[in-house]
Amino acid sequence: MQEYQSTYGQILGLLKAKQGQPVSGPELASQLGISRTAVWKHIQKLSAQGYSIQTHPKDGYQLTDVPDLLIPEEIVPALRTSAFGRTYHHFQQLGSTNDQAIMLALQGAPHGSVIVAEEQTEGRGRFRRQWLSAKHAGIYMSIVLRECLPLNDIHQSTLVTSLSLARIFRDHYGLSSSIKWPNDILIQHRKVCGILAEMQSDNDAVRFLVMGIGINANHQFDQLEGPFRYPATSLAAELGSKIKRQDLLLALLHQLEADYERLLRQGFDSFLAEFELFSNLLGATVTIRCGTMDYTGKVLGFTPQGALRLLLHGGWEEKVIWVGDVTQVVRNL
Ligand code: BTN
Repeated sequence: MQEYQSTYGQILGLLKAKQGQPVSGPELASQLGISRTAVWKHIQKLSAQGYSIQTHPKDGYQLTDVPDLLIPEEIVPALRTSAFGRTYHHFQQLGSTNDQAIMLALQGAPHGSVIVAEEQTEGRGRFRRQWLSAKHAGIYMSIVLRECLPLNDIHQSTLVTSLSLARIFRDHYGLSSSIKWPNDILIQHRKVCGILAEMQSDNDAVRFLVMGIGINANHQFDQLEGPFRYPATSLAAELGSKIKRQDLLLALLHQLEADYERLLRQGFDSFLAEFELFSNLLGATVTIRCGTMDYTGKVLGFTPQGALRLLLHGGWEEKVIWVGDVTQVVRNL
Protein backbone atom coordinates (compact mmCIF):
# COMPACT_ATOMS: atom_id res chain seq x y z
CA MET A 1 0.00 0.00 0.00
CA GLN A 2 1.32 3.45 -0.87
CA GLU A 3 2.00 5.63 2.16
CA TYR A 4 -0.72 8.22 1.56
CA GLN A 5 -3.35 5.44 1.74
CA SER A 6 -2.01 4.15 5.06
CA THR A 7 -2.12 5.42 8.67
CA TYR A 8 -0.11 8.46 7.59
CA GLY A 9 -2.81 9.35 5.07
CA GLN A 10 -5.56 8.71 7.62
CA ILE A 11 -3.92 11.10 10.10
CA LEU A 12 -3.77 13.74 7.39
CA GLY A 13 -7.47 13.09 6.64
CA LEU A 14 -8.41 13.49 10.32
CA LEU A 15 -6.40 16.72 10.65
CA LYS A 16 -8.07 18.12 7.53
CA ALA A 17 -11.52 17.11 8.75
CA LYS A 18 -10.98 19.40 11.78
CA GLN A 19 -10.73 22.38 9.39
CA GLY A 20 -7.96 24.22 11.21
CA GLN A 21 -9.00 23.18 14.74
CA PRO A 22 -6.59 21.09 16.81
CA VAL A 23 -7.06 17.40 17.42
CA SER A 24 -5.43 15.71 20.39
CA GLY A 25 -2.73 13.05 20.13
CA PRO A 26 -4.70 10.56 22.28
CA GLU A 27 -7.80 11.06 20.10
CA LEU A 28 -5.80 10.34 16.93
CA ALA A 29 -4.13 7.37 18.60
CA SER A 30 -7.40 5.81 19.72
CA GLN A 31 -9.19 6.41 16.39
CA LEU A 32 -6.41 4.66 14.51
CA GLY A 33 -5.50 2.05 17.12
CA ILE A 34 -1.86 3.13 17.33
CA SER A 35 0.37 4.57 20.07
CA ARG A 36 0.82 8.31 20.67
CA THR A 37 4.48 7.92 19.73
CA ALA A 38 3.43 6.47 16.38
CA VAL A 39 1.09 9.45 15.89
CA TRP A 40 3.95 11.83 16.67
CA LYS A 41 6.22 10.08 14.13
CA HIS A 42 3.59 10.47 11.41
CA ILE A 43 3.18 14.15 12.31
CA GLN A 44 6.95 14.58 11.88
CA LYS A 45 6.75 12.98 8.44
CA LEU A 46 3.88 15.24 7.40
CA SER A 47 5.86 18.29 8.53
CA ALA A 48 8.87 17.08 6.55
CA GLN A 49 6.60 16.80 3.49
CA GLY A 50 5.71 20.51 3.82
CA TYR A 51 2.49 20.50 5.88
CA SER A 52 2.40 23.21 8.57
CA ILE A 53 1.28 21.55 11.77
CA GLN A 54 1.34 23.37 15.06
CA THR A 55 1.73 21.35 18.23
CA HIS A 56 -0.16 22.63 21.28
CA PRO A 57 0.78 21.00 24.58
CA LYS A 58 -2.85 20.80 25.73
CA ASP A 59 -4.95 20.71 22.54
CA GLY A 60 -2.79 18.55 20.27
CA TYR A 61 -2.05 18.99 16.58
CA GLN A 62 -3.41 21.72 14.32
CA LEU A 63 -3.03 21.70 10.53
CA THR A 64 -2.53 25.33 9.50
CA ASP A 65 -1.31 25.07 5.90
CA VAL A 66 -1.08 22.61 3.03
CA PRO A 67 1.88 22.88 0.61
CA ASP A 68 1.17 23.59 -3.08
CA LEU A 69 3.14 20.55 -4.12
CA LEU A 70 1.88 17.91 -6.51
CA ILE A 71 2.35 15.26 -3.85
CA PRO A 72 0.18 12.14 -3.94
CA GLU A 73 -1.40 13.01 -0.57
CA GLU A 74 -3.09 16.01 -2.22
CA ILE A 75 -3.84 14.51 -5.63
CA VAL A 76 -4.80 10.85 -5.34
CA PRO A 77 -7.58 11.05 -2.72
CA ALA A 78 -9.30 13.75 -4.83
CA LEU A 79 -9.23 11.71 -8.06
CA ARG A 80 -12.50 10.50 -9.57
CA THR A 81 -10.84 8.96 -12.63
CA SER A 82 -10.85 5.26 -13.35
CA ALA A 83 -7.24 4.91 -14.60
CA PHE A 84 -5.47 8.25 -14.98
CA GLY A 85 -3.37 8.96 -11.89
CA ARG A 86 -4.47 5.81 -10.04
CA THR A 87 -0.81 4.85 -10.12
CA TYR A 88 0.96 8.06 -9.25
CA HIS A 89 4.70 8.72 -9.03
CA HIS A 90 5.86 12.05 -7.65
CA PHE A 91 9.46 13.28 -7.73
CA GLN A 92 11.04 16.44 -6.40
CA GLN A 93 13.42 16.44 -9.37
CA LEU A 94 13.87 14.38 -12.52
CA GLY A 95 15.86 14.72 -15.71
CA SER A 96 12.69 14.27 -17.78
CA THR A 97 9.32 12.81 -16.73
CA ASN A 98 9.08 11.24 -20.21
CA ASP A 99 12.31 9.29 -19.65
CA GLN A 100 11.06 8.10 -16.27
CA ALA A 101 7.67 7.15 -17.76
CA ILE A 102 9.31 5.16 -20.57
CA MET A 103 11.44 3.32 -18.01
CA LEU A 104 8.40 2.53 -15.86
CA ALA A 105 6.36 1.50 -18.90
CA LEU A 106 9.10 -0.93 -19.89
CA GLN A 107 8.83 -2.38 -16.36
CA GLY A 108 5.07 -2.85 -16.79
CA ALA A 109 3.53 0.36 -15.36
CA PRO A 110 -0.25 0.14 -15.85
CA HIS A 111 -2.38 2.21 -18.24
CA GLY A 112 -2.94 5.69 -16.85
CA SER A 113 0.18 5.78 -14.64
CA VAL A 114 1.20 9.36 -14.01
CA ILE A 115 4.72 10.62 -13.41
CA VAL A 116 5.06 14.15 -12.06
CA ALA A 117 8.16 16.16 -11.14
CA GLU A 118 8.41 19.47 -9.30
CA GLU A 119 11.44 20.29 -11.44
CA GLN A 120 13.16 18.86 -14.53
CA THR A 121 16.82 19.26 -15.33
CA GLU A 122 16.62 17.82 -18.87
CA GLY A 123 13.05 18.68 -19.85
CA ARG A 124 12.70 18.37 -23.61
CA GLY A 125 10.29 19.12 -26.39
CA ARG A 126 9.86 17.98 -29.98
CA PHE A 127 13.05 17.81 -32.04
CA ARG A 128 14.93 17.62 -28.71
CA ARG A 129 14.37 21.28 -28.01
CA GLN A 130 14.88 22.33 -24.40
CA TRP A 131 11.82 22.69 -22.13
CA LEU A 132 12.45 25.06 -19.22
CA SER A 133 11.15 23.41 -16.05
CA ALA A 134 11.71 25.74 -13.09
CA LYS A 135 11.13 24.28 -9.63
CA HIS A 136 7.54 24.42 -8.31
CA ALA A 137 6.51 26.73 -11.14
CA GLY A 138 4.89 24.44 -13.71
CA ILE A 139 3.24 21.12 -14.36
CA TYR A 140 5.73 18.61 -15.74
CA MET A 141 3.90 15.37 -16.22
CA SER A 142 3.89 12.20 -18.31
CA ILE A 143 1.14 9.63 -18.62
CA VAL A 144 1.66 6.01 -19.65
CA LEU A 145 -1.01 4.90 -22.12
CA ARG A 146 -1.37 1.22 -22.90
CA GLU A 147 -4.83 1.27 -24.43
CA CYS A 148 -3.90 2.97 -27.68
CA LEU A 149 -5.16 3.76 -31.14
CA PRO A 150 -3.66 1.82 -34.06
CA LEU A 151 -0.23 3.03 -35.18
CA ASN A 152 -1.64 4.92 -38.17
CA ASP A 153 -3.90 7.01 -35.95
CA ILE A 154 -1.65 7.42 -32.95
CA HIS A 155 -0.89 11.12 -33.68
CA GLN A 156 -4.55 11.87 -32.94
CA SER A 157 -3.80 11.28 -29.26
CA THR A 158 -1.60 14.41 -29.26
CA LEU A 159 -4.27 16.46 -31.03
CA VAL A 160 -6.95 15.49 -28.53
CA THR A 161 -4.56 16.19 -25.64
CA SER A 162 -4.05 19.71 -27.07
CA LEU A 163 -7.80 20.13 -27.16
CA SER A 164 -8.24 18.94 -23.55
CA LEU A 165 -5.66 21.50 -22.42
CA ALA A 166 -7.19 24.39 -24.35
CA ARG A 167 -10.58 23.52 -22.83
CA ILE A 168 -9.16 23.49 -19.30
CA PHE A 169 -7.59 26.92 -19.78
CA ARG A 170 -10.92 28.28 -21.00
CA ASP A 171 -13.28 26.54 -18.59
CA HIS A 172 -11.23 26.81 -15.39
CA TYR A 173 -9.32 30.07 -15.90
CA GLY A 174 -11.37 31.97 -18.48
CA LEU A 175 -8.32 32.13 -20.75
CA SER A 176 -8.76 31.99 -24.47
CA SER A 177 -5.99 29.90 -26.03
CA SER A 178 -5.36 28.41 -29.43
CA ILE A 179 -3.80 25.22 -30.69
CA LYS A 180 -0.84 25.44 -33.01
CA TRP A 181 -1.02 22.09 -34.77
CA PRO A 182 -0.03 19.63 -33.60
CA ASN A 183 1.19 20.13 -30.06
CA ASP A 184 1.51 23.72 -28.86
CA ILE A 185 -1.00 25.78 -26.90
CA LEU A 186 -0.65 29.53 -27.28
CA ILE A 187 -2.20 32.48 -25.49
CA GLN A 188 -1.96 35.68 -27.53
CA HIS A 189 0.74 34.08 -29.74
CA ARG A 190 2.81 33.11 -26.71
CA LYS A 191 3.44 29.51 -25.82
CA VAL A 192 1.95 28.36 -22.53
CA CYS A 193 2.03 24.61 -22.96
CA GLY A 194 3.69 21.89 -25.02
CA ILE A 195 3.12 18.19 -25.55
CA LEU A 196 5.69 15.53 -26.31
CA ALA A 197 4.30 12.10 -27.22
CA GLU A 198 6.76 9.20 -27.46
CA MET A 199 5.92 5.58 -28.12
CA GLN A 200 7.25 2.07 -28.44
CA SER A 201 5.83 -0.27 -31.03
CA ASP A 202 6.31 -3.85 -32.19
CA ASN A 203 5.89 -4.10 -35.93
CA ASP A 204 2.46 -2.53 -36.42
CA ALA A 205 1.24 -2.61 -32.83
CA VAL A 206 1.76 0.20 -30.35
CA ARG A 207 3.15 -1.26 -27.09
CA PHE A 208 2.69 1.97 -25.16
CA LEU A 209 2.52 5.68 -25.62
CA VAL A 210 3.94 8.23 -23.21
CA MET A 211 2.14 11.57 -23.27
CA GLY A 212 4.38 14.27 -21.81
CA ILE A 213 2.78 17.60 -20.92
CA GLY A 214 4.55 20.77 -19.82
CA ILE A 215 2.51 23.76 -18.65
CA ASN A 216 3.92 27.14 -17.72
CA ALA A 217 1.71 27.72 -14.70
CA ASN A 218 3.25 30.07 -12.15
CA HIS A 219 6.39 31.05 -14.06
CA GLN A 220 7.45 34.65 -14.04
CA PHE A 221 8.67 36.03 -17.34
CA ASP A 222 12.33 35.87 -16.30
CA GLN A 223 11.89 32.09 -15.78
CA LEU A 224 10.76 31.73 -19.39
CA GLU A 225 13.56 33.46 -21.22
CA GLY A 226 15.75 31.52 -23.58
CA PRO A 227 16.78 31.02 -27.17
CA PHE A 228 13.33 29.84 -28.24
CA ARG A 229 11.43 30.16 -31.47
CA TYR A 230 8.34 31.57 -29.79
CA PRO A 231 7.95 33.93 -26.88
CA ALA A 232 6.52 32.15 -23.86
CA THR A 233 3.94 33.04 -21.24
CA SER A 234 2.43 31.41 -18.18
CA LEU A 235 -1.09 31.11 -16.80
CA ALA A 236 -0.12 33.33 -13.84
CA ALA A 237 1.36 35.97 -16.16
CA GLU A 238 -1.89 36.06 -18.14
CA LEU A 239 -4.16 36.06 -15.08
CA GLY A 240 -2.10 38.46 -12.98
CA SER A 241 -2.07 36.05 -10.03
CA LYS A 242 -0.75 32.62 -9.20
CA ILE A 243 -2.86 29.53 -9.68
CA LYS A 244 -3.10 26.48 -7.44
CA ARG A 245 -1.18 23.82 -9.34
CA GLN A 246 -2.97 20.99 -7.53
CA ASP A 247 -6.34 22.20 -8.86
CA LEU A 248 -4.94 22.46 -12.38
CA LEU A 249 -3.46 18.97 -12.28
CA LEU A 250 -6.68 17.44 -10.95
CA ALA A 251 -8.82 19.19 -13.54
CA LEU A 252 -6.41 18.07 -16.22
CA LEU A 253 -6.40 14.40 -15.25
CA HIS A 254 -10.20 14.29 -15.32
CA GLN A 255 -10.46 16.09 -18.65
CA LEU A 256 -7.68 14.06 -20.26
CA GLU A 257 -9.20 10.76 -19.25
CA ALA A 258 -12.71 11.68 -20.42
CA ASP A 259 -11.44 12.93 -23.79
CA TYR A 260 -9.02 10.05 -24.29
CA GLU A 261 -11.75 7.48 -23.63
CA ARG A 262 -13.98 9.29 -26.13
CA LEU A 263 -11.17 9.25 -28.69
CA LEU A 264 -10.79 5.48 -28.31
CA ARG A 265 -14.55 4.90 -28.57
CA GLN A 266 -15.66 7.51 -31.13
CA GLY A 267 -12.50 8.48 -33.02
CA PHE A 268 -10.93 11.85 -33.83
CA ASP A 269 -13.77 12.65 -36.19
CA SER A 270 -15.96 13.43 -33.19
CA PHE A 271 -13.50 16.18 -32.11
CA LEU A 272 -12.78 17.64 -35.55
CA ALA A 273 -15.16 20.62 -35.48
CA GLU A 274 -14.03 21.73 -32.03
CA PHE A 275 -10.38 21.17 -32.92
CA GLU A 276 -10.74 23.46 -35.93
CA LEU A 277 -12.37 26.12 -33.76
CA PHE A 278 -9.35 26.12 -31.45
CA SER A 279 -6.79 25.98 -34.26
CA ASN A 280 -4.81 29.16 -34.83
CA LEU A 281 -3.78 28.05 -38.31
CA LEU A 282 -7.11 27.91 -40.09
CA GLY A 283 -6.98 30.22 -43.11
CA ALA A 284 -3.39 31.28 -42.38
CA THR A 285 -0.54 30.98 -44.84
CA VAL A 286 2.15 28.84 -43.31
CA THR A 287 5.40 27.11 -44.08
CA ILE A 288 5.65 23.57 -42.76
CA ARG A 289 8.84 21.56 -42.60
CA CYS A 290 8.38 17.85 -43.26
CA GLY A 291 11.74 16.14 -42.98
CA THR A 292 13.94 18.03 -45.44
CA MET A 293 11.02 19.50 -47.43
CA ASP A 294 9.33 22.84 -46.82
CA TYR A 295 5.72 23.36 -47.98
CA THR A 296 4.09 26.78 -48.11
CA GLY A 297 0.39 27.33 -48.54
CA LYS A 298 -2.92 28.20 -46.98
CA VAL A 299 -4.33 25.96 -44.23
CA LEU A 300 -7.77 24.71 -45.30
CA GLY A 301 -8.44 22.67 -42.18
CA PHE A 302 -7.84 19.15 -40.96
CA THR A 303 -8.92 15.76 -42.19
CA PRO A 304 -11.13 13.51 -40.02
CA GLN A 305 -7.91 11.59 -39.35
CA GLY A 306 -6.13 14.67 -37.95
CA ALA A 307 -3.82 15.50 -40.86
CA LEU A 308 -3.42 19.12 -41.95
CA ARG A 309 -4.90 20.19 -45.32
CA LEU A 310 -2.68 22.70 -47.10
CA LEU A 311 -3.57 24.48 -50.34
CA LEU A 312 -0.12 24.80 -51.86
CA HIS A 313 1.07 28.29 -52.66
CA GLY A 314 0.44 29.47 -56.20
CA GLY A 315 -1.62 26.49 -57.22
CA TRP A 316 -4.77 24.45 -56.78
CA GLU A 317 -3.15 21.38 -55.36
CA GLU A 318 -4.13 20.27 -51.87
CA LYS A 319 -1.39 18.60 -49.85
CA VAL A 320 -2.27 16.51 -46.82
CA ILE A 321 0.42 16.68 -44.14
CA TRP A 322 0.54 14.07 -41.38
CA VAL A 323 3.65 15.11 -39.47
CA GLY A 324 5.47 18.41 -39.62
CA ASP A 325 6.77 21.47 -37.88
CA VAL A 326 5.11 24.78 -38.65
CA THR A 327 8.08 27.12 -39.08
CA GLN A 328 6.34 30.25 -40.29
CA VAL A 329 2.84 31.66 -39.98
CA VAL A 330 1.59 34.61 -42.00
CA ARG A 331 -1.98 35.71 -41.28
CA ASN A 332 -4.72 37.07 -43.53
CA LEU A 333 -3.25 36.02 -46.83
C1 BTN B 1 7.22 20.86 -27.07
O1 BTN B 1 6.83 22.01 -26.89
O2 BTN B 1 7.88 20.56 -28.07
C2 BTN B 1 6.85 19.81 -26.08
C3 BTN B 1 7.24 20.14 -24.64
C4 BTN B 1 6.91 19.01 -23.69
C5 BTN B 1 7.45 19.24 -22.29
C6 BTN B 1 7.00 18.17 -21.35
S1 BTN B 1 7.35 18.55 -19.66
C7 BTN B 1 6.93 16.93 -19.19
C8 BTN B 1 7.49 16.00 -20.25
N1 BTN B 1 8.87 15.69 -19.96
C9 BTN B 1 9.71 16.19 -20.88
O3 BTN B 1 10.94 16.08 -20.87
N2 BTN B 1 9.00 16.82 -21.83
C10 BTN B 1 7.58 16.78 -21.56
